[in-house]
Amino acid sequence: MKGELLLLSNVMFLLGVACGCPEKCHCHSSSKSVDCGRQGLVEIPPDLPPQTLTLHLENNQIHQLPAFAFRSVPQLMTLNLSNNSLSTLALGAFDGLQHLQVLNLTQNSLHSLENRLFHSLPQLRELDLSSNNISHLPASLGKPWENLTVFAVQQNQLQQLDRTLLESMSNVRLLFLKDNLWKCNCHLLGLKLWLEKFIYKGGMTDGVICASPDTWRGKDLLKIPHELYQPCLSDQVPSQALQPGSARRAAVSLPETHSVGERDHSECELQPKPKPANLRHAVATVIITGVVCGIVCLMMLVAAIYGCAYAAITAQYCGEHLAQTSESGRMEGKELFDSSPA
Ligand SMILES: *[C@@H]1O[C@H](CO)[C@@H](O)[C@H](O)[C@H]1NC(C)=O
Ligand SMILES: *[C@@H]1O[C@H](CO)[C@@H](O)[C@H](O)[C@H]1NC(C)=O
Ligand SMILES: *[C@@H]1O[C@H](CO)[C@@H](O)[C@H](O)[C@H]1NC(C)=O
Ligand SMILES: *[C@@H]1O[C@H](CO)[C@@H](O)[C@H](O)[C@H]1NC(C)=O
Repeated sequence: MKGELLLLSNVMFLLGVACGCPEKCHCHSSSKSVDCGRQGLVEIPPDLPPQTLTLHLENNQIHQLPAFAFRSVPQLMTLNLSNNSLSTLALGAFDGLQHLQVLNLTQNSLHSLENRLFHSLPQLRELDLSSNNISHLPASLGKPWENLTVFAVQQNQLQQLDRTLLESMSNVRLLFLKDNLWKCNCHLLGLKLWLEKFIYKGGMTDGVICASPDTWRGKDLLKIPHELYQPCLSDQVPSQALQPGSARRAAVSLPETHSVGERDHSECELQPKPKPANLRHAVATVIITGVVCGIVCLMMLVAAIYGCAYAAITAQYCGEHLAQTSESGRMEGKELFDSSPA
């Protein structure tokens, strides 16, 4: 009787899942996952089973997400939207996904993200935004993202990254930043300092390779010496410095002839010149010191040899002389002694 009831409920559950499974998807009731990958979908299928935990939508042509797009699957933990045609995400697109842990948005056409876009995903652990066209990330994406451990933005168009954004991910362990258009000027100092601390604490990153200015192209941001960032610390960095095109102008013209904004910008550019000059100076100092030391040493050696030779000769002479004098002294003494009684 009990067994029959169980069987009946199982059958009803399977039927329910089967009935609730969208036309182009495969629903796996045991794992509560729904696979709608590679089906040529252009939007989210409407009748998803409400108990779904994993939703595969990869390799489709979904081009937009409305607000509350996943309202029907509030239990979702993993959402895969990789290799679709998303260019924008409506604010609130992920609202209602209180339990989402993994969100994969790689290989889309995203170019910007709204401030606070992921504020409704407090449990998020992995966010993959790689291989898009993102040129700017807002200072805030998720509220205190204490569970986020993986953040991937490699292969985008980023020139800089706001340190506040990284600071909101207090437990991030893996950070993918490679293959962007990193502009290694003062605006990236915050990222450099944050990354140094991050790596020191055991975090892992694939690195930040500078794309501009020309002097630093191909160089690793973490390997640029700290001294070169000194001008960045001395002055406030103005927002005008962000204007495209002014970098080249500032780099070729002299500081005295600029308007204020441009001069500020030239201060923002890292100056690689002081290092070689300092190096040359140091090398010259070492050579001069070496030569002087060598001469002094040689002179001391000559003096020592001369001194020894002189000492030896003197000693020899003195020895003979002493022998003579002691003999004559004895003679004199004898004479004296001989003569004294007299
Ligand atoms: C991306 O999806 C398309 C179908 O929309 C597919 O033809 C292509 O092979 C997929 N690319 C990758 C790398 O999987
Ligand atoms: C998303 O789909 C891609 C392509 O099928 C796969 O390689 C990747 O592992 C999936 N990611 C997640 C988190 O399911
Ligand atoms: C997202 O999917 C891609 C393949 O499309 C995969 O290489 C990557 O590991 C996935 N990211 C996460 C965080 O699972
Ligand atoms: C982080 O994850 C833990 C364990 O799953 C959970 O208890 C906690 O509420 C999560 N943090 C937030 C801010 O949701």
